[in-house]
Amino acid sequence: MQQPVFSLTISSPTNIALIKYWGKRDAKINLPINSSVSVTLNQRDLRTVTTVSASRSFSRDRLWLNGEEEDVNASRRVLAVFREVRARAGDLRDPKTGQVLVRKDEWDGLRVWVVSENNFPTAAGLASSAAGYAALTFALSKLYGLPDSLADELSCIARMGSGSACRSLAGGFVAWDMGQRADGVDSRARQVADEAHWPELQVLVLVVSDTKKTVSSTAGMQTSVDTSPLLAHRAAAVVPGRLAEMEAAYQSRDFGKVAELMMRDSNQFHATCLDTYPPVFYMNDASRAIVRMVHALNEAAGETVCGYTFDAGPNAVLLTLKRHLPTVLAAANTHFPPKRPVEATLASESLLAALKS
Ligand code: PMV
Repeated sequence: MQQPVFSLTISSPTNIALIKYWGKRDAKINLPINSSVSVTLNQRDLRTVTTVSASRSFSRDRLWLNGEEEDVNASRRVLAVFREVRARAGDLRDPKTGQVLVRKDEWDGLRVWVVSENNFPTAAGLASSAAGYAALTFALSKLYGLPDSLADELSCIARMGSGSACRSLAGGFVAWDMGQRADGVDSRARQVADEAHWPELQVLVLVVSDTKKTVSSTAGMQTSVDTSPLLAHRAAAVVPGRLAEMEAAYQSRDFGKVAELMMRDSNQFHATCLDTYPPVFYMNDASRAIVRMVHALNEAAGETVCGYTFDAGPNAVLLTLKRHLPTVLAAANTHFPPKRPVEATLASESLLAALKS
């Protein structure tokens, strides 16, 4: 007999860290050695779209990322998200009629297929895993009928997929508190300022390279924890003060301060990569030319009109204000033709708010 297929599709935004997460104190459940903050980007610009489908006719869980099938059982991170969501499964109801489609105790007989697509380069240092694991967590939580009250737990589940993913479940300016506990229940994201707080902010992504990075962030940060004295110093003595300053500057919409802290933090993160042994290079010559361009632009303007940050890859994320956008775009288009910068705004919605509504 033909078995029904229960499907739903959601899309999730990426986020860009202004103060970076780098280094785990527990690699199994992604507990960080420092707290971090990020801004969530608008889903229109950079997003992952994920469809999850469950059916009795599926014999095993399967996952396709950008058209290529991945081995679900080979990914500890994917398995962790499945395991944690399934442990909390409720009834799946038809969103329109409220009719129960799959009862809580029937889930054991159903396997799930996941199809996920990014509209931006995967694994090229544009936080694709953040959008990807936020999407997977959110989509599975909807499929498995998790109650709305589990928003904080969802943050922890997304974190187990990819640390930075916990910050993609909320919009606006989001902090990921490192937490103190060994079980990680206090290591989760918290919205500091909502999506409406600073509409003047504008993001520009300069895609320097769309090839997959050679050292994954998981591998890079483990080697850094094991070998870099600068990383230990950064986590203990630099990041806590910087986070407090960043939060205050963002709350008071002090662009010059936010941009400076963001650039300093990106530079220090990449310095820890250089201090790692053997060193890890994520930025390249084009990335460094962008750094010089931004400083030259700010100097010429006599004020800070733009800031940069680089994740674990060579691509630049620039932060500016809408009124300075023409100046920054003109510089980027002069120095980096023919690739046009991707213009992105901050998220105008929050996945978790959607969950609660
Ligand atoms: O979440 P992961 O394991 O992909 O690590 C992300 C690390 C950085 O993007 C470099 C920094 C961050 O805070 O997002």
